[in-house]
Amino acid sequence: MGIQVRKRLVEQAVSDSDVFKDESTLFPDFVPGELPHREREMMRLAKNFRSILKRDRPRSVHVAVIGDPGVGKTALVKRTMEDLVEVGRDRNVKLDFVYYNCHSMRTKASILRHVLTEKFGVQSRGFGEEEILEMIVKRCEKEDLRLVIGIDEANMLRAEDILSIIHANEVFGSGQSRISTVIISRTAEWRALLNAPLSGHILDQIDIDGYNKDELFDIFKYRAKLAFWEGVISDQILEMVAEISASTRNARHGIEIMLRAGRIADETGDREIKADFIREAKNRVYPELRPDVFYDLRSHELYASLAIARILSRPDTIETTIKDAYQEYQLVVEEMNQVARLQEKPASMATFRQYLSTLEKVGIISMAVKNLDQGRGRRAKITLYDIPAKIMRDRIEGLLKRNPNIR
Ligand SMILES: Nc1ncnc2c1ncn2[C@@H]1O[C@H](COP(=O)(O)OP(=O)(O)OP(=O)(O)O)[C@@H](O)[C@H]1O
Ligand SMILES: [Mg+2]
Repeated sequence: MGIQVRKRLVEQAVSDSDVFKDESTLFPDFVPGELPHREREMMRLAKNFRSILKRDRPRSVHVAVIGDPGVGKTALVKRTMEDLVEVGRDRNVKLDFVYYNCHSMRTKASILRHVLTEKFGVQSRGFGEEEILEMIVKRCEKEDLRLVIGIDEANMLRAEDILSIIHANEVFGSGQSRISTVIISRTAEWRALLNAPLSGHILDQIDIDGYNKDELFDIFKYRAKLAFWEGVISDQILEMVAEISASTRNARHGIEIMLRAGRIADETGDREIKADFIREAKNRVYPELRPDVFYDLRSHELYASLAIARILSRPDTIETTIKDAYQEYQLVVEEMNQVARLQEKPASMATFRQYLSTLEKVGIISMAVKNLDQGRGRRAKITLYDIPAKIMRDRIEGLLKRNPNIR
């Protein structure tokens, strides 16, 4: 391809789109200004924090927000807490909200270290977890600050880790309570995490229901207005997207479909999203799987997922074993070493099992223990959760190709 032609193509690629007014408003981390049909839940969440806005003797609050995938838990908490911080500012009350997604920030220690460095500019090296927690509490007292820690995908932590953050006020505080938490989790995972001591500290558990078709239509209409130029997506097409997402009651489902359908229109040079684009996009969207889930994985976890995806994309293979997956994983590491000129060693079997447990927690694989025939014992069988193996393989390979030195 000549340089002139190439330049023209690149120019075209980066020039304004006829379809998207702002494509990034459909990306996973975008938090919209409004959340139609969640007003009640927003008010309920905010009300819980009344007591920390008191100027003297603030009382800390611990709330849980629970629900199925894509029902707006994360968006609800981020939007409400940001508004609450504003309200605090208006009232001259120092209130801060920090948000952590435990898919990327996976331990209590890493969260606390991050709070200490980011919020208070103190280096945490050399301090133990409890010391860091104490420093955070003392700093909050000194600066008259109320700190709310949002812990999303909380099932990645252990219940006792969450409890120790909740207890920090009593353990280290001088009669004041400064640290509050909002714990966010999917329903099934929350059940696994919840124990009696933890539930005793949760002031309010807000259960978020899925959306029905009419609600989804309103949400998509609003989101489409942010993302597309006028006339790109008709009400009829939005109805169709709402209908599809109503089967999962998941708002992310339709938002991802709109993004993909918009891209198809962009590529084909259409200025309108057609029903066919929606049908095509629909087949590539897996509503339970967060589209950014692979970005939160460490390199060897990605290799492990790729190994499993490769095995399961072979004909007639619906499940695999830890042993086979481990063997394939070693091959993947070898291959990555060659491709990206790395010198990585495969992890031990014990560490590999930890990777699998992480992949299970983030919802990529499912591991069921099966009894073998004729008393040959029990063995864990690995299957994929929501995504076809071939698609998963392509996505991870694409990701690794783009960032071969991912860590
Ligand atoms: N009421 C709403 N109005 C506008 N957009 C919404 C609404 N509810 C959800 N969304 C959007 O739908 C998508 C999914 O929402 P969100 O990520 O908050 O779901 P979630 O409940 O946290 O799901 P998961 O359990 O998978 O983390 C996001 O893009 C979010 O902005
Ligand atoms: Mg979420």
